[in-house]
Amino acid sequence: MELNIMVIGSGGREHALVWKLAQSPLAEKIYAVPGNPGIAELATCVENINVKDHAAVIDFAQRNEIGLVVIGPEAPLVEGLADDLIAADIKAFGPTAAAAQLEGSKIFAKQLMKKYAIPTARYEIFSDADAAKDYVRREGAPIVVKADGLAAGKGVIVAQTVDEALNAIDEIMTQKSFGAAGNRIVVEEFMDGEEASLLAFTDGKTVVPMIPSQDHKRVDDGDLGLNTGGMGSYAPAPIVDQNVLNAAVEKILKPTVEAMSKEGKTYRGCLYAGLMIVNGEPKVVEFNARFGDPETQVVLPLLKSDLVELMIACADGTLDGRTIDWSDESAVCVILASGGYPKSYRKGMAIDGINKAKALGVLIFHAGTAQRDGELITSGGRVLGVVTLDKNLRAAVEKNYKAVGVINFEGMHFRHDIAARALNRSKE
Ligand code: AMP
Ligand code: GLY
Repeated sequence: MELNIMVIGSGGREHALVWKLAQSPLAEKIYAVPGNPGIAELATCVENINVKDHAAVIDFAQRNEIGLVVIGPEAPLVEGLADDLIAADIKAFGPTAAAAQLEGSKIFAKQLMKKYAIPTARYEIFSDADAAKDYVRREGAPIVVKADGLAAGKGVIVAQTVDEALNAIDEIMTQKSFGAAGNRIVVEEFMDGEEASLLAFTDGKTVVPMIPSQDHKRVDDGDLGLNTGGMGSYAPAPIVDQNVLNAAVEKILKPTVEAMSKEGKTYRGCLYAGLMIVNGEPKVVEFNARFGDPETQVVLPLLKSDLVELMIACADGTLDGRTIDWSDESAVCVILASGGYPKSYRKGMAIDGINKAKALGVLIFHAGTAQRDGELITSGGRVLGVVTLDKNLRAAVEKNYKAVGVINFEGMHFRHDIAARALNRSKE
């Protein structure tokens, strides 16, 4: 049966979600709240609803006979949008507020992992800055300091020296740089390994992993410079071989979903495990309660199965026995960012070359764009994601940078080494 779908969010992740949902024969009309100019080519963008106003979201959904609401970002999940939709008898893809604590509170996540013996870094929790500092001085560096709550990806400091860790504690707990998110902190052991992202569909009982991916968080080539929301991604990530994948599913994903259910916080939706692979063993760096950005931009184009069906199965608890088909190609996403990003940057720069790039057979997912007098302009730090698929990573990378070469806006910058780690590995 066909249904109308509403996607909450406005970034590259949501553009990729809408792009994939729109391919389903089950999708009738798609709405995005608020969406962006790229999404507007595939869906109706609704800009006059405040997502924090759950009654307004429900009212719109009821008036437009929405059969499925897909919640992209973490904030509305942590704020209970899925709970309110479900209470109004509207199907939602995404966990309830209680379940989204897995991302919303690092302390909740760490305590759950400790209780259920899910592999992660050793840690201590502090609500007192002096006690935290004493602990850091005893443990020494490198060491990792994390604000408990949501901090737009900025609440984690990987300190190379004790002084850096002490400063981080001051910044989070005394200066309250992240507000109440820093009332309590986690101080944890530094894990030395390679990171990967493993996303999974779950209906609260069954867990089906997606194809493993890797993102690039630092702004400059060679993993140097400041942390960003993500400068690119690729999939599959060869670091997650069959052994690592099995271990991640059996020791992390399944036990976590089971634990959440036992705790009375049944987790449904996309469960994102940020992994650190240390000597072939995956450990949890963090959980996210949503699809990753920019991982989604490479994972969904490789998904051959129907996303609408999968999302409904997650919401309805009927995922058991479902198989998911993946393409055997590789996907690469290069993010084109505004000059200065992740620090302050200018907006409103005209964007050239998108159609030329598309003619080269690439996908362009919009993240921070806007329309001005019929012209496409920049409106965010991460502006576009250029995505290519090809028979292997090397071919996908080559195709990608050719397309990147025809796009331009003033100040545009990007990483030149997306997927380089995987390509170097395959040379070994
Ligand atoms: P998070 O927001 O928890 O994913 O942390 C952001 C980034 O900090 C991660 O992607 C890792 O690169 C790094 N990180 C977090 N925790 C650790 C840890 N215990 N050891 C090493 N690196 C870490
Ligand atoms: N790519 C990291 C995240 O979505 O949190």
